[in-house]
Amino acid sequence: MIRRALTACACVFGMACAIADEPADLLSPERVQRGHAAFGESCSYCHGENGAGGATGAPGLQGRTDLSAADIFATISNGRISGMNIMPAWGESLTEEQRWALVAYIRSMAGAAK
Ligand code: HEC
Repeated sequence: MIRRALTACACVFGMACAIADEPADLLSPERVQRGHAAFGESCSYCHGENGAGGATGAPGLQGRTDLSAADIFATISNGRISGMNIMPAWGESLTEEQRWALVAYIRSMAGAAK
C-alpha cells in the first residue's frame, strides 16, 4: 500500500518534469517514425489504422490541430474515462521518450508545425 502511494507520487512529479522537458526537436523524423510504429502496436486497435478513428468510442487522431503536445502527453500518461469510453493510462508501461514519440506522431498528423 505504502509502496503504491509512493509510486503514484513519483509518477505525478515525474510527469510534471516530463512536460517541462518536452524534447526541443519533438517532430524529428526519427521520433515520428518510432511513434508511428508504437502507435500500430498499442493504439490502432482502438483509434483505428493510423489514427483514422475507431468503432470503440476512441476519437480519430488525424488533423487534430486542437490538441497540444502537452495535452496529448498528459492524456497518454494518465488515461481518461468518459462514460463507457476508456482511454488506458500508459504512464507506467511506456517510458517518457516512448510517450513523446507517440505525441510526435500524433502532432505530425495535425498537418501543422508544433
Ligand atoms: C482501449 C482503447 C484505447 C486504446 C488502446 C488507446 N486509446 Fe486513446 N482513447 C480511447 C478513448 C475511448 C478516448 C476518448 C476518451 C474520452 O472520451 O474522454 C481516447 C482518447 C485519446 C486521446 C485524446 C483525444 C482527444 O480528443 O482529446 C489521445 C491523444 C489518445 N487517446 C492517444 C492514444 C495513444 C497514443 C494510444 C496508444 C498508446 C491510445 N490512445 C490507446 C481509447 C483508447
